[in-house]
Amino acid sequence: MTRSNLLAVLVALVCVSVCTGLVAAADLLADRHSTRGLGCASCHGTTGPQTAVTAATCIACHGAYTAIAEKTARLDPNPHASHRGELACGECHHAHQPSVDFCAQCHDFGFKVR
Ligand code: HEC
Ligand code: HEC
Ligand code: HEC
Ligand code: HEC
Repeated sequence: MTRSNLLAVLVALVCVSVCTGLVAAADLLADRHSTRGLGCASCHGTTGPQTAVTAATCIACHGAYTAIAEKTARLDPNPHASHRGELACGECHHAHQPSVDFCAQCHDFGFKVR
């Protein structure tokens, strides 16, 4: 491989990692709230980001579990109405990291949690 080819490969690699990073950053739940005008304080309140955000904060805007379950009634099974009861939102929805499918520990429903 010539030196210029090597350089081209390196540039391509850097671009791929930076660009994927940007896409991932814009796709996190906290950023998608910010995009809708809901900044840090809408979840973290006045106590600052060091204080953990509990499910009660999410429920204050999104409504109780039963209301949220109605919005995902299209999903079978419903991730918000299961034998696991009223799980903390953070078992699936992460604000600053990719969200996870809690149920996948035991099942293969293929939930894609935003
Ligand atoms: C949709 C609600 C929400 C919004 C909006 C939000 N956060 Fe968070 N934040 C959380 C939750 C929930 C956690 C706990 C960790 C997690 O779920 O990712 C957290 C954790 C944190 C932490 C602790 C470190 C970590 O990553 O766990 C910091 C620092 C933080 N947030 C800063 C911010 C800042 C700065 C903003 C505004 C740019 C912001 N947050 C907006 C919900 C939110
Ligand atoms: C200050 C009000 C507010 C708080 C607090 C809040 N949200 Fe939201 N959230 C919204 C609004 C408004 C939308 C956009 C409309 C909708 O989809 O309901 C939204 C959208 C969402 C969506 C849809 C995904 C998307 O990006 O389109 C999810 C999932 C969500 N919120 C989860 C959470 C979780 C989990 C928490 C707690 C960590 C939280 N929200 C805290 C107001 C809030
Ligand atoms: C077992 C995993 C899991 C838990 C726990 C969970 N969710 Fe979800 N949630 C999902 C999945 C899967 C979807 C559908 C895909 C998406 O929109 O993320 C969803 C969708 C949503 C939506 C979008 C609904 C719409 O309009 O399409 C909101 C809002 C939401 N969840 C809020 C919450 C809140 C608030 C909590 C805690 C009270 C919570 N979720 C707990 C898995 C979960
Ligand atoms: C720790 C393991 C575990 C987790 C996590 C878990 N389940 Fe289950 N689930 C089970 C077991 C065990 C059964 C009973 C299996 C049987 O007898 O068929 C079951 C049965 C079910 C059933 C009925 C049988 C089927 O497979 O259709 C549904 C629906 C279900 N779970 C949904 C969920 C949902 C939604 C979540 C996430 C909110 C979840 N489960 C999380 C272990 C788990």
